[in-house]
Amino acid sequence: MASGYAIHGHAIVSDDDKIADAGGHTPRSLRHPADWKRFQAAMDGAAVTILGRLGHMAHPNAHGRNRIVLSSSASGIERRDGVWWWNPARASLEAALAVAAPSGGIVVVPGGRRVFDLFLQLGFDEFHLARVRGVTVPDGIPIFSESSSHRSAETVLAAHGLEPQPTEMLDAEAGVSVTVWRRRAPG
Ligand SMILES: NC(=O)c1ccc[n+]([C@@H]2O[C@H](COP(=O)([O-])OP(=O)(O)OC[C@H]3O[C@@H](n4cnc5c(N)ncnc54)[C@H](OP(=O)(O)O)[C@@H]3O)[C@@H](O)[C@H]2O)c1
Repeated sequence: MASGYAIHGHAIVSDDDKIADAGGHTPRSLRHPADWKRFQAAMDGAAVTILGRLGHMAHPNAHGRNRIVLSSSASGIERRDGVWWWNPARASLEAALAVAAPSGGIVVVPGGRRVFDLFLQLGFDEFHLARVRGVTVPDGIPIFSESSSHRSAETVLAAHGLEPQPTEMLDAEAGVSVTVWRRRAPG
């Protein structure tokens, strides 16, 4: 894990642990104002946000935040079109952060799936898992490759060394809640 940085994942999922529909778009049923506001505040407080190329294209960097976009097209870590581009096969996370966010701080990771898969291996310090109750996204994109109908997102997070804090209800009427999962203290 990169020292001087705290890696925070953020996702909002359906009952069946999906982050996007079969076409790779976030369905309206997973968009929620209270969650969006919380997520925007997290990005405002971050040293850098790291997301996949498709998410970057779906949500261009309108606020000009410090952003790293994952792509196999990058030669390592490089600057193009107002954002950093990173290929983890060619540069380590430490090397990417040393260039893009040299002062350290919070690194917000909003996915998508392959990005979450990568950071499960690299190590999350926190994962902010929001849920919308009563929504399913058949054939959608799961939050993690490891998650399935038999293995929930919570099971995957626990298997990767994280433990849940008390769940906070963001909008009881809409059934939207968030649970922050934190890295278990060693020992
Ligand atoms: N509900 C939620 O919380 C949530 C969270 C995240 C995303 N989403 C939504 O889901 C959709 C996109 O998600 P997605 O999972 O389909 O795609 P994505 O992660 O946004 O983008 C995938 C692309 O990112 C690059 N990439 C990802 N991991 C990489 C790695 N380890 N090494 C090199 N390149 C890597 C690749 O780009 P190249 O093809 O250039 O190599 C890959 O094709 C968007 O609509 C987004 O808004 C929702």
